[in-house]
Parts: sequence; structure tokens; C-alpha cells
Amino acid sequence: MNVKNKTVLITGASSGIGKEFATQLAGKGASLIITARSEDALNKLASQLEQEYTGIWVKVIPLDLLESNSPQTLFSTIKTMNISVDYLINNAGFGQFCEFTNEKFSRYQQMITLNINALVELSHLFLPEMKKNNAGGIINVASTGSFQPLPYQAVYGASKAFVLSFSEALSGELLESNVHVMALCPGMTESNFMDNANADTSSMKLSSAHDVVKTGLDAFGKKRIFIVAGLMNYLTSLVPRLVSRQRTVSIVVNMLKNTVKTTNK
Ligand SMILES: NC(=O)c1ccc[n+]([C@@H]2O[C@H](COP(=O)([O-])OP(=O)(O)OC[C@H]3O[C@@H](n4cnc5c(N)ncnc54)[C@H](OP(=O)(O)O)[C@@H]3O)[C@@H](O)[C@H]2O)c1
Repeated sequence: MNVKNKTVLITGASSGIGKEFATQLAGKGASLIITARSEDALNKLASQLEQEYTGIWVKVIPLDLLESNSPQTLFSTIKTMNISVDYLINNAGFGQFCEFTNEKFSRYQQMITLNINALVELSHLFLPEMKKNNAGGIINVASTGSFQPLPYQAVYGASKAFVLSFSEALSGELLESNVHVMALCPGMTESNFMDNANADTSSMKLSSAHDVVKTGLDAFGKKRIFIVAGLMNYLTSLVPRLVSRQRTVSIVVNMLKNTVKTTNK
């Protein structure tokens, strides 16, 4: 992926996969706009990257994407700075490991707002200029959970199925252009995600955010419309194509029931 002297907007850049995107893209010569709620973490990352990589700049826009109109606010702020965004990485998101009825509905509303609404609105705001320039593109961070239902993460899994479907649909609309959209589908990955989701990680083998992002950037450069990070995760993503939907659900139940903590936060 050639991003030298390009500008990349990354949501959820204060930790985990988003922070790793920022680091690897700065290393490839991209200038960045990084956003999340944690202003201190973003400022620290921005100074580190500007010191380490010459010829790039990093702008920080602290923002809560759950606040109403926040995607529009982000867009307007960037326009006021007179910056054109070449690539957008819709990465901010969160999950929850529990039985569906053991979490408040308001938490699910927030999950849908962040994982789906914000991602769609940001795509809708930033894609027109990419299409006008006939260049650039979007990476949407989906999940291996995009390929089958996720009992014990029912709303999260459904939100990530949306992200994969939406991203592939956009990539189809853009086939004749030089603008590209891809869904990156990580499996369980080292970050703050599992803690925030109240997951029991004792039986999990976590990938590194570094490997996930490297796989994502390589695949985007090859114009893949989706990529599953990691061979085992890819093989697991094929299960729904090989067995019945009912059998798929039973397999996932067995894989995930031990990841639910007995007490919720
Ligand atoms: N880790 C995994 O196992 C895994 C697997 C598959 C897919 N994913 C996906 O990967 C993406 C990144 O997650 P991660 O694993 O890197 O987890 P993470 O370390 O928890 O990062 C999540 C990022 O989203 C930001 N964020 C959360 N709520 C926000 C809000 N209301 N407004 C703005 N930003 C917000 C967080 O920053 P602040 O808290 O500073 O706002 C943080 O930068 C997510 O979409 C997740 O669903 C993760």
C-alpha cells in the first residue's frame, strides 16, 4: 500500500489495532489524523510518531463517536483545517461477552451506534471526495465474527456481519474506479478490547495487533475486498460454508461459552 505523502484518518487510534495502524502507516510515510476519546494517549502517540518519522505530521482530534453529530463534527473540523483525507480507517468499536439478556439495552445501542452508524456516516462523508479524486479508499475493521452468528456476543457479531456486508457492497460499486474499500477481519487480538468486553481470555490464543495490521495493509495494497488475519482464523471463517447453519451455531457455542465470565462488570 503506497501511502507516502498521503493523509489517513484513523478512528480508535488511541490503543490496540488503531494505534498499530497509525504506527505502521507513519512508517510508510503517511501523515495522519488520529481520533478517539483519550486525548492524552493520542497526543503522546502523535509526538512519538512525528519524532520517529521525518516528513510526516500527525493531527489529533479527540472525539466521542457516540455523541450525536460527532461524525459530522469530525468531518467539519478536518475541512476547517483544509485537509483532504485520502484514506479512512474505520476502526473504533467495542464488544461484550455475555448472554444477551445480561447486558443493558443502552450498551447495545452504543455498540450499534459506534460499530455501525458512525462507520457508515464517516464513509458517507469522506467517500465522495475520494470518488471525485478517483483515488484513495477505506478500510473498515470487521471481525472473524462477521462470517457467522456469535452466541454470547450476539449484537457485536451482528454488527460486524453488517460491516463486512457493507464494505463488500461498496467495493462492488467502486469496481470500475481507483477507489478501494476493504473489510479487515481480525480474530482475537491483543488490545484493550477483551478487557473492555469483559471476556475471559484464559483459553484464547491472541494474535498481535502488529500482525493483524500488516496483513490488512498488504491485502489492501492487493485490492482484496476482505481479508481474514491469520491462517487458522481464515480456515475457521470457512466453517459456515461447509456445514449447516444450525451446526455452525453449535460449533460457535462450544468455542465461545468458556469466554464468558461468570460475573459481569
Ligand atoms: N481485539 C480483538 O480481538 C478484535 C477482534 C476482531 C475485531 N476487532 C475490532 O478491532 C477494532 C479495534 O479494536 P481493538 O481490538 O484495537 O480494541 P481497543 O484497544 O479497545 O481499541 C478500541 C478503540 O476504539 C476507541 N473507541 C471506543 N469507544 C469510542 C467512542 N465512543 N468514540 C471514539 N472512539 C472510541 C478507543 O479509544 P478511546 O477509548 O480512547 O475512545 C480505542 O482507540 C474494533 O472495531 C474491534 O471490534 C477487535
